Amino acid sequence: MNLSIIILAAGQGTRMRSDLPKILHPLGGRPLLAHVLDTARRFDDAALHVVVGHGAEQVRAAFPDPAIHWFTQQPQLGTGHAVAQVLPAIPDEHAVLVMYGDVPLIRKETLGALQVIALNNEVGLLTAELDDPTGYGRILYAADGSITGSVEEQDATNEQRRIREVNTGFVAAQAGSLRNWVESLDNNNAQGEFYLTDIIARAVTDGIIVRGVTTKDRNEVLGVNTRAQLATLERCYQLRQAMACMDDGVTLIDPARFDLRGRLAAGQDVVIDVNAVLEGNISLGNRVTIGPNVVMRDTSIADDVTILPNCVIEEADIGAGTRIGPFARIRPGTRLAQSTHIGNFVEIKNSEIGNGSKVNHLSYIGDTGIGRDVNVGAGTITCNYDGANKHRTVIGDGVFIGSDTQLIAPVTVADGATIGAGSTITRNAPAGELTLSRAPQETRKGWQRPVKKK
Ligand code: UD1
Ligand code: CA
Repeated sequence: MNLSIIILAAGQGTRMRSDLPKILHPLGGRPLLAHVLDTARRFDDAALHVVVGHGAEQVRAAFPDPAIHWFTQQPQLGTGHAVAQVLPAIPDEHAVLVMYGDVPLIRKETLGALQVIALNNEVGLLTAELDDPTGYGRILYAADGSITGSVEEQDATNEQRRIREVNTGFVAAQAGSLRNWVESLDNNNAQGEFYLTDIIARAVTDGIIVRGVTTKDRNEVLGVNTRAQLATLERCYQLRQAMACMDDGVTLIDPARFDLRGRLAAGQDVVIDVNAVLEGNISLGNRVTIGPNVVMRDTSIADDVTILPNCVIEEADIGAGTRIGPFARIRPGTRLAQSTHIGNFVEIKNSEIGNGSKVNHLSYIGDTGIGRDVNVGAGTITCNYDGANKHRTVIGDGVFIGSDTQLIAPVTVADGATIGAGSTITRNAPAGELTLSRAPQETRKGWQRPVKKK
């Protein structure tokens, strides 16, 4: 191990106006800091150090990874002071890479270039050319083209403020040198802070070369200070994910209307229409089609499944060749076998449905086991809740349930049974027979409708 990564995350994030620490605000459904940690972990064998301050306990609790070394910075006296909290824990010969908990889109490849520079006992500094550099530190050069320092906006002269190449804050250096420079920092500046950026000038004084690496993708160095910036980065992030999905062979009808808040594993020739929101772990087989406005969480879908528009599917396992929707709600614990049909305005919860079975219209199926080749008629309801406890309904193979049937659980309908439409089934229905409960129909001859009194 020869790399130590320091992630600065002690700042308050005042401009978010939130009770939640800034770095716990979600991007793509996961905390900002989770993205930064993901990127840091892609450096094999790097030691991970995170500096927290505001909301320290809450942040720590959100990341119970024993590999993270936590440091509390209290009070927050600047980025240099933050790094100083960690340096005593890092051996001199390590390369140190400084990252930021609120800059989530930085790429490993970009940071890798800084690491290489640090391993060469030079200082690697990530810079960016911005049309509007307001608020950022500016990079200062000598006449020979070498970097001589970085000056904060508040400390800059008017002339320096016109410089458009900015300091992104990402920096890598050898730990021993960094320790010397950080120990020598002072806070004699406009903000009264210990600036990490002042190490640049210290390095130059020590005759250490500072190499700038300029990123072409400005999004990767953008930080989150406001909810508006968070929304901007969310779109960048989603577009990145959309591009990756398309590279993997998924057709997205409109990559600008695709939201993946978790992870997607997709087979070939999957088509996802607009406004899909995919959360948690989603796996899609080959030739799966997802219609518009589908929300899905932690669900696994096999080959050749069609999800029609406006479905909500959570924690479900969907078998091959199945068709769901439009307007279906599939709730946790649902397992659909192969070639099942779940139609409009059907809700299914914690139930298994066998091969080839159909629940096509306006039904509630809860805590139920349904066999194969069953037809459940429109408006069928499993009455699984007695006001205190949940009970199971069991429906055998080849059963036909007439429309508008209530099945009062616990109840079993055996193989091949037929239930007459409009029945309320309170006792088990035997195999192969017609069972129905229905008030006899009568006609009252000569009956007159009431008329309004004059
Ligand atoms: C910093 C840089 C600036 C650069 C900009 C890029 C310094 C002095 N300035 O300015 O050159 O252009 O980033 O975004 O480094 N933090 C702590 N403890 C502290 C202070 C800050 O952990 O005591 C963390 C914050 O949580 C934040 C990061 O460091 O994640 C940057 O701090 P911030 O105060 O936002 O620095 P900037 O003024 O933006
Ligand atoms: Ca900032």
